[in-house]
Amino acid sequence: MERDTTQDPFAEFKKRQREAWASFAPTAMFTPPVAGHLVRFARIARGEVVLDVGTGTGVVAITAARSGARVTGLDLTPELLELARDNARISKQEDIVWTEGDAEKLPYPDASFDVVLSQFGHMFAPRAEVAIAEMRRVLKPGGRVAFATWPPEHFVGRMFAFVGRNVPPPPAGASPPPQWGNPATVTHRLEPHFEAPFFDRGIMRYPALSIEHFRMFMERSIGPMQKLVESLAADAPKLAALRAEFDAMAAPYYVDNVMHQNYLLTRAVAR
Ligand SMILES: C[S@@+](CC[C@H](N)C(=O)[O-])C[C@H]1O[C@@H](n2cnc3c(N)ncnc32)[C@H](O)[C@@H]1O
Repeated sequence: MERDTTQDPFAEFKKRQREAWASFAPTAMFTPPVAGHLVRFARIARGEVVLDVGTGTGVVAITAARSGARVTGLDLTPELLELARDNARISKQEDIVWTEGDAEKLPYPDASFDVVLSQFGHMFAPRAEVAIAEMRRVLKPGGRVAFATWPPEHFVGRMFAFVGRNVPPPPAGASPPPQWGNPATVTHRLEPHFEAPFFDRGIMRYPALSIEHFRMFMERSIGPMQKLVESLAADAPKLAALRAEFDAMAAPYYVDNVMHQNYLLTRAVAR
């Protein structure tokens, strides 16, 4: 991918995001069930041409390809795309095309895809309106978008708000990712480009022996959490206080040794 650092006001922010997400692979152990739900909800049909934005290790792209779609997966983070290639080889879906790129500047011509999917991916592009306009631009007339996002009122949305309160703010003009989990906001953002959306909900489950195990896992494989902990390496009391706050935030969602992470699905047809 051409890394244009002169034009994009968020180029430095995206460079940091690319570094932060490089450690995500262990978490992708838990996202395939959501991919199954998203691909079914998106009504992917055999032969459709599909783009997966923020594909990471390729879980949605590979699930869609197993349904008979012709798939391209795009992600900002090359380390994850390497693993996506391995996953495609293992699952015998080697026709998938993998592209390093940015959700805000999709490197495809207009009207290239029948369906654009994103599972916890496009929500991390800093400018919501730019990302959704790009997703619409690459859709054929009558094509559809379908995505999974984290609602602000549930655990992952609260965790990103917690991280946001404790790290330097992003550049002006960036919208908080969990806004994409609010149906009213989603409806408003889709309105210029899409018919009225349909919604569904589900729960992603993380088995964990204790909340402390769960937190340790998040600190190692969720880039924004990892960066927050690294930034407090020299301030043990503050780190301990933040860890206690995290554990209290997680407690209501930790039942029967499983963390429950509620997500929102959205589907809409292009105008
Ligand atoms: C939470 S992970 C989700 C990965 C995968 N879809 C899954 O469900 O397992 C977020 C992904 O979005 C990617 N990402 C973040 N910002 C992006 C951007 N501006 N353009 C494309 N991908 C981006 C990250 O590199 C990462 O792979």
